[in-house]
Amino acid sequence: MTLPDPAVVVLVGAGGSGKSTWAAQHYRRAEIVSSDELRGVVGSGPADLDASTDAFDLLERIVAARVGRGLTTVVDTLGLDPERRERWRAAARAAGLPAVAVVLATPGPECRRRNADRDRPVPAPVLTDQLRRVTALTASLADEGWDHVELVTPDEGGDEDTRRLVPHRSPEGRNVAVGDHTATSRPPTGVRVVLQLSRFPWGEDPGGWLRGMALAADEAGFSGLAVMDHLVQIPQVDSAWQPIPEPWVTLGLVAGLDTRLALGTLVTPVSFRPAGITAKAAATLDTLTGGRAFLGIGAGWWEREHRGHGIGFPSARERLDLLESSIETIRALWAAGTKAYDGARVSLPETTSYPRPVHDIPLIVGGGGERRTLDIAARLGDACNLSSDPEVLTHKLRVLDRHLAAAGRTRADVAVTVLDLPVVGRDREDAWARVERLRGRTPAAAFARRTNAGTARQHRDRYAELAELGVSTVFVGVRGLESPDDVLALAELNG
Ligand code: GTP
Ligand code: MG
Repeated sequence: MTLPDPAVVVLVGAGGSGKSTWAAQHYRRAEIVSSDELRGVVGSGPADLDASTDAFDLLERIVAARVGRGLTTVVDTLGLDPERRERWRAAARAAGLPAVAVVLATPGPECRRRNADRDRPVPAPVLTDQLRRVTALTASLADEGWDHVELVTPDEGGDEDTRRLVPHRSPEGRNVAVGDHTATSRPPTGVRVVLQLSRFPWGEDPGGWLRGMALAADEAGFSGLAVMDHLVQIPQVDSAWQPIPEPWVTLGLVAGLDTRLALGTLVTPVSFRPAGITAKAAATLDTLTGGRAFLGIGAGWWEREHRGHGIGFPSARERLDLLESSIETIRALWAAGTKAYDGARVSLPETTSYPRPVHDIPLIVGGGGERRTLDIAARLGDACNLSSDPEVLTHKLRVLDRHLAAAGRTRADVAVTVLDLPVVGRDREDAWARVERLRGRTPAAAFARRTNAGTARQHRDRYAELAELGVSTVFVGVRGLESPDDVLALAELNG
């Protein structure tokens, strides 16, 4: 069972049908607004019916405040009042959240049995009336305008294992860009996951930290390890004075460890180094790792790091020209032999450069610029790195496909990779704690949505859906990674 999230979830069920139990199994405590509990807050206890008016006033205010912030809200009442249901649906609609009704369809005898066991049972005729109304409502709920109606029967109660999603089929014949050498351990989701390290909170022992992170990534089943190529930490990740090490030196250390990880950059700006130097670095890494290198490459975008390091930052058009010519140069220097190269944009008197790479290094073009970057990726790339947002991705893929058609190439020539920046928690509670810690000044609901805050299993299922769109590799820059233990906790991302 997968319900939309975030959402407004309205429970419907007779006393003792298991509403509060179900809510507690699936949601965080703070997400559940219960009329019984609020009777206990403003009255003498959950069964203090004299406190109902005050309790429901409070409930409505809490629902309105949470839903207005786009936060998941589970309304735990009998759910039998049509006006309240309509109000909660309207609040959901106004906030752009799906409205979900969850009916606890526990049989009457079971509800009666549970009711009788309680300290303060509901009078039998009252429970009978509730059961009758729930039954009547179950038939008409579909016409009320809910985005989703879920019927929960006792059998589905607590057995988590029956809820495992069926692994998605992997698309056949796809050019898998990164981590081909791990073909034997291809995950059931059909998508490879490469861990991207973008923050380096390495304390007193940077080398030891890096070793630990890489060994943990290998142990957790990641296909590879990617690092950014920046001279100043970028504002999207951390403050400018946090360390951001040079990628090829960094990968050199990881290359010396006993792992099966594919290693590379995501992405190297062509503006930093002459193309021949990048070709040499990647070929060396490929040689030292027995064919595990990949190269992400892009036009560069951050002016500040260029200026501060005495590196020119030409116009966008010139940088894109440079991207094209750099790819040509790199390919010429990776090809066999020493002959002169005379290409569309580049002429080299010779192409002597050893060591040559020991396998076809996947060249991943980063950036979603529709007119030129995607055209360059379609013509010259082995892969194209795009946003993991399904809507954005679907659009960019349409543009990529047009460029591919014009270039006489297909998706079999150019694999699709994405960069995903999720919040991953051990459970719903932990995921939310991380959202609170990491969101800065971004409203929690927006941050949780952007980062798909959830468990590793939820992200893995999402990656399986990306595989259906044609994604072969997910670069995952998990937010807030501090230690090797954090990396080991991500094993479930890998199937
Ligand atoms: P009210 O708040 O009185 O309307 O009841 P409720 O619908 O919230 O029911 P609640 O979750 O409090 O469950 C009532 C009793 O049934 C509790 O003793 C639960 O432990 C038990 N119960 C709830 N769900 C299940 C279930 O799936 N299986 C079993 N065996 N017991 C359950
Ligand atoms: Mg309850």
